[in-house]
Amino acid sequence: MNSARKPLIAGNWKMHLGGIAGIELAAKCMDIARQNPHVELVVAPPFTAIAAIAQECEEQGEHGGHCGVAAQNMNAKSAGAYTGEVSPAMLAEAGATWVILGHSERRQHYGETDQQVHEKVAAAFVAKLVPIVCIGETLEERESGQTLTVVKRQLSAFVELLQEHVALPSAIAYEPVWAIGTGKTAGPAEAEEVHAAIREVLSAQSAELAAKTRILYGGSVKADNAKALLAAANVDGALVGGASLEAASFGAIARAAESLVVSS
Ligand code: 13P
Repeated sequence: MNSARKPLIAGNWKMHLGGIAGIELAAKCMDIARQNPHVELVVAPPFTAIAAIAQECEEQGEHGGHCGVAAQNMNAKSAGAYTGEVSPAMLAEAGATWVILGHSERRQHYGETDQQVHEKVAAAFVAKLVPIVCIGETLEERESGQTLTVVKRQLSAFVELLQEHVALPSAIAYEPVWAIGTGKTAGPAEAEEVHAAIREVLSAQSAELAAKTRILYGGSVKADNAKALLAAANVDGALVGGASLEAASFGAIARAAESLVVSS
């Protein structure tokens, strides 16, 4: 972590917690936000829960604290005959201010390409949604020594857009595919190696982009490994899957970030 950047802890709920349980968890996330004021908190519920959760977070915000709401995906087009799709403006209308793009589960299961990620990042900026763009290698790619090549290729699809909109916030999530939902995690040194390489690519665009863009680590982040990962110089936060579904574990991860800021 670097004190110049506020740590960002985002919970990707994936296809969980669509109903009342999601609203209850959002209320607890607002408590977490109030208890950890040096950390920026975001939750990404399923589409159908975004409006209710954004409203819950806004109402609770009257008592202090802030928790942003993210979508987990969107269509890049603004409207039209695209059955089953959701536009950036619809998400903003529902109360989302963030959007996760290019998650490996979208790339793997729905064939999302670097070109589509490019289009979605551009559309997010137009709709004033803050993109959290995910990149990361598979186990096969890591084992064949391709990690940095793959990550840089994925990054090259959208890094110029981040530079073009350098005045607007954005984040990148490095999520090694082999660490997602497996309980295996990159060690802090392994994560830092990739995060530092990502920071270099940002630096080649501009010092400003490198200084302000938060690079999150994702992949089996839990209460017991969060602090060591977040302590790495270029790790500015976490994109948390499984451990974000319970307030106790998500809160512990936020506290780990808070304690690093407070002690720095
Ligand atoms: P897990 O934390 O469950 O491994 O999921 C990580 C992830 O995919 C977050 O987007």
